Amino acid sequence: MFNLILFGPPGSGKGTQSERLISKYGLKHLSTGDLLRSEIARETPLGLAVKNLMAKGELVPDEIVIEMINSAIDNNPAANGFLFDGFPRTNAQAEALDKLLSQKNTEISIVLALQVSDKELVSRLVKRGQTSERIDDRNEDIILARLAEYNKKTAAVADHYKKYDKVKYIKGEGNIDDIFERLSDEIDKKKEPRFT
Ligand code: AP5
Ligand code: MG
Repeated sequence: MFNLILFGPPGSGKGTQSERLISKYGLKHLSTGDLLRSEIARETPLGLAVKNLMAKGELVPDEIVIEMINSAIDNNPAANGFLFDGFPRTNAQAEALDKLLSQKNTEISIVLALQVSDKELVSRLVKRGQTSERIDDRNEDIILARLAEYNKKTAAVADHYKKYDKVKYIKGEGNIDDIFERLSDEIDKKKEPRFT
């Protein structure tokens, strides 16, 4: 199995690039943000429980997302590999994910970390907020709260995977096709290492 974490701050292009990567590499896309938004849209008890936190740009509790990912992995026994988007977002989530994967005799193959300046992130999300339905794009204060939450709790997740030498940094600004190519190059190198 090839399991990839697409890592990066809010607005760095995780969703945009995930769509392309899953189709090129045949991976199952697991986005905790998309799963939570679907719970909210269906007005499930879980959706109602997380809606206010998401609307404020805060993370939802670890137990909730870990359980969602656990079920999603179990529900896809035939997957060739998973692309995790927006997960793990805390060190506790990273440790839980490592454990879940090791129980399936697999592991994270690579962490691709998109790097985008704060100025560009805010500008992308404010722009999307003018037309999107996302409750967390409604105004700049919420967008800044999401970035603060990322810096406080999520950025350190890269250090967890750096310990195992799994992190590759990718410039996430500029043309979407060029970013996709940079991501693909790292995946190809990892999948078929060339010995010189
Ligand atoms: P989540 O859904 O994961 O959102 P996010 O990380 O805040 O980021 P986005 O989805 O907005 O951005 P993205 O990186 O996917 O970029 P995108 O491709 O959309 O999480 C939402 C909330 O759910 C969290 O705040 C939290 O409350 C909760 N949650 C989710 N997972 C959780 C977890 N594990 N633990 C706890 N809570 C969790 O692109 C953004 C915009 O930029 C788009 O308009 C796009 O068209 C544009 N764009 C993309 N690439 C480019 C480019 N190269 N140039 C110009 N524009 C571009
Ligand atoms: Mg996204």
